[in-house]
Amino acid sequence: MNFHVMTLFPEMIENAMGHSIIGRAMKAGYVSLEAVNIRDFADNKHNRVDDYPYGGGAGMVMQAEPVYRCYEDIINRMECPESSFPRVIYLTPQGRVFDQDMAREYAGEEELIFLCGHYEGVDERVLNRIVTDYVSIGDYVLTGGELPALVMMDTISRLIPGVLNNDDSAETESFADSLLEYPQYTRPAVWQGEEVPSVLLSGHHKNLQEWYRRQSVIRTAQRRPDLLKKADLTPEEQELVQEIIEGMTDKQTTRVE
Ligand code: ADE
Repeated sequence: MNFHVMTLFPEMIENAMGHSIIGRAMKAGYVSLEAVNIRDFADNKHNRVDDYPYGGGAGMVMQAEPVYRCYEDIINRMECPESSFPRVIYLTPQGRVFDQDMAREYAGEEELIFLCGHYEGVDERVLNRIVTDYVSIGDYVLTGGELPALVMMDTISRLIPGVLNNDDSAETESFADSLLEYPQYTRPAVWQGEEVPSVLLSGHHKNLQEWYRRQSVIRTAQRRPDLLKKADLTPEEQELVQEIIEGMTDKQTTRVE
């Protein structure tokens, strides 16, 4: 996967991507990243890339030309035919809300271009010209698109084969089958008087798998019942979910943990 990020803050992108699992994936060549500074494509001696909005109003708007030139620079270096130009993702609270299914789809691309806006927005004309996907990371407003782009690149990268050590861990984790992941425990077996569930010490494969599945269903019913609409549950599991939901007070269903 090759990520190309158009931004006014390239160091922010490079620094954040250089660590931990993603940093290792970049060194190993599973992921590459270039952060291109939109300011380098300004056409004035002050390197300004924003201006006042037509019609008035608060804040400044990023100009079309530097953004377009930055995009052209990336595309020209790629040397690919127009028919296979990469998707261009513009990070905006007005976009489709990012989720794990979208991450899986993006992980299948070879190249992805991100456009990080700042100020009050980006001139609509360049957005219409280059953007293929409008994506939000949630219903709140950030100061720019860099953090959302990083969130997306982190989520997408770990789905690329070879990036995680254990190939399984992207399969059994939260949101696989629209269920949350079961709880995890490690040594010691007794911590401050609390024991690890005995099935985890039993080494009995079938019982373990059943326990994992049941815990995932319980956890999802307790914390994210909205996800269960898409989950494929057995009749017994549906009954279990019903019992949990009926047993919960309103406070529990909306509790943030
Ligand atoms: N830019 C500002 N807020 C954003 C959000 N919630 N998602 C994506 N891009 C943004």
